[in-house]
Amino acid sequence: MKIAVLPGDGIGTEIVAEAVKVLKALDLKFEMESALVGGAAYDAHGHPLPEATLKLAKEADAVLFGAVGDWKYDKLDRPLRPEQAILGLRKNLGLFANFRPAICYEQLVGASSLKPELIAGLDILIIRELTGDIYFGQPRGRRTAVDGHFPGAEEAFDTMRYSRPEIERIAHVAFQAARKRSKKVTSVDKANVLETFQFWKDVVTEVGQQYPDVELQHMYVDNAAMQLVKAPKAFDVVVTGNMFGDILSDEASMLTGSIGMLPSASLNSSNQGLYEPSHGSAPDIAGKGVANPLATILSAAMMLRFSLNQEAAAQRIEAAVQKVLAQGLRTPDIYSEGTTKVGTAQMGDAVVKALS
Ligand code: NAI
Ligand code: MG
Repeated sequence: MKIAVLPGDGIGTEIVAEAVKVLKALDLKFEMESALVGGAAYDAHGHPLPEATLKLAKEADAVLFGAVGDWKYDKLDRPLRPEQAILGLRKNLGLFANFRPAICYEQLVGASSLKPELIAGLDILIIRELTGDIYFGQPRGRRTAVDGHFPGAEEAFDTMRYSRPEIERIAHVAFQAARKRSKKVTSVDKANVLETFQFWKDVVTEVGQQYPDVELQHMYVDNAAMQLVKAPKAFDVVVTGNMFGDILSDEASMLTGSIGMLPSASLNSSNQGLYEPSHGSAPDIAGKGVANPLATILSAAMMLRFSLNQEAAAQRIEAAVQKVLAQGLRTPDIYSEGTTKVGTAQMGDAVVKALS
């Protein structure tokens, strides 16, 4: 088993170091090789995703990714910006299924902005399609309008599109994930207004006929946004397109208290995957040793589960994280009165200790 370790920049290097510590403490046989990516790669090689980094990622069974992006790169041309590295990796590895579990740990119920009874025991899984939709559809651009409300005016346009195979493969992923959970899928669309999402709904319904044991519910995205804060526990697996998934997964992340707690996995059709925390490079706290490494450590657990077939080790890590939270250890983002404030490395050390 080979893991490509790509820390990136900002807090990426700090949090990935802790996840690597935890992985090494498991005593499993895998090889880990690191490479520069994002701003760190730009500084050293003038490109956010050097050939050698891409090659390492392609050859590995899984990629453990930190975060990229810093304000100091904002003035670069778009293709040279650190964020292009993550887009390039998604594209080159064919990562089409983004898993974001939103789990509210018992010890952090008070850290959420929602009432405890709404989120205690929350465990939902948002599955976002990652390669299609309005983010990548062509044509797009700017032009002078020839029709519409203001002919002759300057206008911009994007194209929303999904093909049948794209919808089918993400639907299968969702139904299969639901089979391992409480057997309910909510497909989120906007079929009442958008043809792309009427098609989405039709295709998901067809695929669902192959999974009679899984309950399928359809919900419009505006209602889904509302239900996520009204009764989040009514969901189990949520599957949706690239743009709705982007927005709803950020909304769901806030149910759990801190973005520093949220792992993610992006998978391709051979279960090769890229695992990263849901947050970015947090330039405001980078280098201070205070970033929460738990989202990255939990991402490493997802990596063991999905790409490396090590379910027992994944559960060991997840149990260790719960244990350190039960011990009252908190990085500043999840700190509350009566708990013990710790830094990034102390938190990583505590997880390692809790493994045994
Ligand atoms: P961000 O997620 O980096 O930070 C948002 C807020 O959350 C900040 O106040 C930050 O301090 C805090 N935060 C984030 N992770 C934390 C952690 N582990 N522990 C404690 N606090 C944490 O999002 P922002 O500020 O919008 O973006 C910063 C940079 O990151 C930008 O350049 C952006 O493009 C990039 N970015 C990269 C992503 C990636 O690498 N996949 C994803 C999202 C943003
Ligand atoms: Mg987002």
